[in-house]
Amino acid sequence: MERNDLDYTIAAFAKLLDKSKALVLDQFQDLDNKNAYHDYPQNEVESWFAESLPEEGMPDDALLQKVKTHILDKATGNLGPHMYAYVTAGGTQISIIAEQLAATINQNIGKWHLAPSISEIEKRVVQWAAEMIDYPGQVGGVLVSGGSAANLAGLTVARNIFFEKLNIRKNGLFGVKPFTVYASKEVHGCVDKSLEQLGIGTNQLRKIKTQEDFTINLEALKQQIEQDIKDGFQPFCVVGNAGTVNTGAIDDLEALHQICESYKMWFHVDGAYGGVVAMLESVKAKYKGIEKADSVALDFHKWLYQPFELGCVIVKNWETLRRAYFKKASYLDTQLEEASRLDFNEHYFQLSRNAKALKVWMSIKSYGMKALRAMIQKDIDLTNYLCDQVNQSEDFTLKSQANLAVACFQYTAKLEDQEQIIHLNQRLIPALEKDGRVFITGTKLNGELVLRACIINHRKQKSSIDYLLQVIRDVAATL
Ligand SMILES: Cc1ncc(COP(=O)(O)O)c(C=O)c1O
Repeated sequence: MERNDLDYTIAAFAKLLDKSKALVLDQFQDLDNKNAYHDYPQNEVESWFAESLPEEGMPDDALLQKVKTHILDKATGNLGPHMYAYVTAGGTQISIIAEQLAATINQNIGKWHLAPSISEIEKRVVQWAAEMIDYPGQVGGVLVSGGSAANLAGLTVARNIFFEKLNIRKNGLFGVKPFTVYASKEVHGCVDKSLEQLGIGTNQLRKIKTQEDFTINLEALKQQIEQDIKDGFQPFCVVGNAGTVNTGAIDDLEALHQICESYKMWFHVDGAYGGVVAMLESVKAKYKGIEKADSVALDFHKWLYQPFELGCVIVKNWETLRRAYFKKASYLDTQLEEASRLDFNEHYFQLSRNAKALKVWMSIKSYGMKALRAMIQKDIDLTNYLCDQVNQSEDFTLKSQANLAVACFQYTAKLEDQEQIIHLNQRLIPALEKDGRVFITGTKLNGELVLRACIINHRKQKSSIDYLLQVIRDVAATL
């Protein structure tokens, strides 16, 4: 018998692992020539999985075949060089191994003694994250599911600590004078969502106008704060962008910190997209001030090339997190343990949490930061190459100067009428998705539709960029 109820014999498990290994390797064959998107209608994809709850199991070979046919081979091409949509990295190979090993030991990092090594690795990764952005001291932090969760965590800590004297964790927001949060109008929607979840409400989020380079307008920010004070609001927090999702704009973080100091506000930085780039000598100066933030959101499934999901929030020390989250429970009591053990459940919302740290720890150990920094620099250089190609062409127009690794542009087909150009680009986006050779989406800059290419992928090269422009021209010609 190959399997007792749920477990295989070692020999049968080995065979199955070999088969799954073949599936993994197959995904990396010929990436340059694989489509970035497979355009199947939604109802067809739904039909592949439409069945009622299976009572009987199926043979493993048939199951793996099903997974290959309908999941692996139809997956959106995030691994390959032709993915430009949203902020999507290719995933490091060592992390595939790490994920399998992490699932194998099935650790729960909620309590130190449930996962001693993984707990220490997560503490180490948090400290390394701080080193990447020159965030000083023995910081506190947690690995979370992504940038949205990291921002929610940072803003939760902000609210709980800032209003600690009002015992807000116990009393809730009842009776508290409405408090206001400030960010540029380019801020990511997860900040809106976080404020909704935190009971602050988006009516209290002041979206401040930006300058031409899409960074926050500091004068407008100060005026809004003054106005709010006059109107009886309590200014509470500024969210600085260390790389906006639309264009990669980095706010003047030093100035934002000073504003927070003078109005006694919390300073949170959303570095989900661009935070770790602070470690590059070529752009470090733009990040000055990030090290003074009270909380920072980072996202390793973006620019540390980790497979989803992996975000990180860091704050000045562990005690801050404990004050924001600790909840006593008899079933979790730590009395019998060494005081130096750090239990993550006391420093974050989740109790059970998986070994998120292993993949990023193994990636950093395996590749070293020198190689990772060089790869990030390569992405930035490639983005500049894309901008140059667009600028030199007669049928594309660049719509935002490249910041980090996002370029926004329009295909003009040499048309001059702006309405016609917008109409063409509107039709291009779905047509490109149908074509599938590259995957690129759009956004709006100052209300105007543009194509938006994000170049966070260690497998992209100059030839990928040339291919992108060629495919856009090809598809446009069919419209
Ligand atoms: C600036 C910024 N903040 C937050 C997020 C949200 O991150 P996630 O998608 O990992 O939740 C993103 C995602 O692109 C982002 O670019």
